[in-house]
Amino acid sequence: MKSTIALVLLLMITFAASAAAQDTPAKDLFVSKCAICHGADGSAKTTMGKNLKIRDLHSPEVQKQSDADLKTMITKGKGKMPAFERKLTGKQIDQLVAYIREIVKQK
Ligand code: HEC
Repeated sequence: MKSTIALVLLLMITFAASAAAQDTPAKDLFVSKCAICHGADGSAKTTMGKNLKIRDLHSPEVQKQSDADLKTMITKGKGKMPAFERKLTGKQIDQLVAYIREIVKQK
């Protein structure tokens, strides 16, 4: 009986966690696919970011580019920036572009 309750609780926690994750899919994508180089907040203050001389995504140089430019950058890659066309859908890349616009407002 005790184990049934434990199982139900576990399921509820798992469900709550996944429901919360669905609210921020772009952030999750960014953290899982981009943060190793760009840093969780996009400011590239990571070892990789410094080594690769990645610009802070908050910077005007990045933000002045159009959504289409940023999308092409993520889709096709550039230099050391990997192409994500085989790893992400067009919709996910759109969400990431929107997320890059979003992080500036958070700072
Ligand atoms: C292996 C490290 C690496 C990963 C992973 C990575 N990037 Fe990059 N990214 C770079 C580098 C290096 C540049 C600079 C490219 C250049 O200008 O030559 C860059 C540039 C960019 C730029 C353009 C910034 C500018 O300077 O104009 C955007 C936007 C960007 N990345 C978004 C993303 C997104 C979104 C993801 C995840 C889906 C991602 N990157 C994953 C390394 C990475």
